Amino acid sequence: MQTPTATKATQLIAASQRMTLDPFTEVDWSIPIDDSAYHLPPDKLPLFGTAQWEGMTGLQRREYSRHECAALCAAGIWFENMLMQTVLRHLANLPVTDPTHRYLLVEVADECRHSTMFGEYIRRAGTPAYAPRVDVDVFGPADGLPGGRAMAYLLILAVEELLDVCNRATMRDHSIHVVSRQIAKLHVIEESRHVSFAKTYLCDVWPTLTDEERNGASEFAPHAVGFVADLMVHDGVYETLGIEGGAFAARNNPINRMRVVRDLAKLTGFLEGLGVINDSSRAAWVERGLAA
Ligand SMILES: [Fe+2]
Ligand SMILES: [Fe+2]
Repeated sequence: MQTPTATKATQLIAASQRMTLDPFTEVDWSIPIDDSAYHLPPDKLPLFGTAQWEGMTGLQRREYSRHECAALCAAGIWFENMLMQTVLRHLANLPVTDPTHRYLLVEVADECRHSTMFGEYIRRAGTPAYAPRVDVDVFGPADGLPGGRAMAYLLILAVEELLDVCNRATMRDHSIHVVSRQIAKLHVIEESRHVSFAKTYLCDVWPTLTDEERNGASEFAPHAVGFVADLMVHDGVYETLGIEGGAFAARNNPINRMRVVRDLAKLTGFLEGLGVINDSSRAAWVERGLAA
């Protein structure tokens, strides 16, 4: 009998055949990426509601949103690079006859297109290349973390869910710059397949782990997800724009901290159901500012 992961992979291959999008035809790159509109919804910007935000003109806020959007795209490229490494290592261990094999290659191909799309936005937005300022190996050996490959997929899911909430808000808001909305829409459509795969895989694999592996993973997960959430604020944005105390204000902004908890709610709800967040690990999620 097929595992739910194998069945899901077959369904997702069919869904990918029905809809796979090319960012160089779906996104209208002839439209200038300028400051005529916000590039992210204002309430998704880390500085929203702070004294620094209140002190900005409308134009400065829109310019800041262009830099935040570029930083988010750069974080997206970085995350996609890291998670592709996880998927490629998974592929290296899978026989080609496994139904998951073809799907995982489709997922890698999706991420390659997404990263070219994010890169194109950054180049056209005229901002610096805001790559996260961390060692590239920090996420790379995720398979070796507590819980092994399950933890690696949990991290993939965390990144995808966090970006998904922001992407959905962006694509639905008609006042946002059209290029940003087109990018967000493409990403939402294709990432929904990845989210669905990661969840099915985790539900399949989690019960097969030993108690020791499960406990280790439960204990480690809030730190790993916290690390991902922290990368959503990039000091370089504030340095480039000369916003005094901007990075500190963004990290300590109670409005932004509440937003992170809200944006992670789908993930944390799923992890509660799975048992990753349980009575002994819940406090660490709250302490880390990831759950209420
Ligand atoms: Fe992606
Ligand atoms: Fe993805």
